[in-house]
Amino acid sequence: MIALGCDHGGYGLMQEVIRHLEDRGLEYKNYGCYSEESVDYPVYAKAAANAVASGECEKGILICGTGIGISIAANKVPGIRAALCHDCFSAEATRQHNDANMLAMGARVIGPGLALKIVDIFLDTPFSNDERHIRRIGMIE
Ligand code: RB5
Repeated sequence: MIALGCDHGGYGLMQEVIRHLEDRGLEYKNYGCYSEESVDYPVYAKAAANAVASGECEKGILICGTGIGISIAANKVPGIRAALCHDCFSAEATRQHNDANMLAMGARVIGPGLALKIVDIFLDTPFSNDERHIRRIGMIE
């Protein structure tokens, strides 16, 4: 189960992500927002992050205008490792090295073509399980 959260700046791109997850047959829970009306991104970051931190969802995808505010907010929730990624290399590396459990993107930064590739890489790349990465993640916690 994938937790989704966005603000008005990310709403349009999130609709593309939702269509893509449905095409892939992946289950998701949408924690909002639900339109392009102006809202406060910390509300949706927290709702989706809580779902991941509690184990209700395995991973999450967050989108705001830049991806910055929503990732900062999600990372305040203990147990959340939200990675802001706008390229495929970072999306792969953050799964392998950081075991990131939430992906954040900015809809005003990248287009849907790249965003959906990043989503696929983030969802499909396993954690390396290397001792040094496990140690470093433990140090963050
Ligand atoms: C909303 O205008 C914008 O500030 C928000 O989507 C995000 O970019 C914040 O980091």
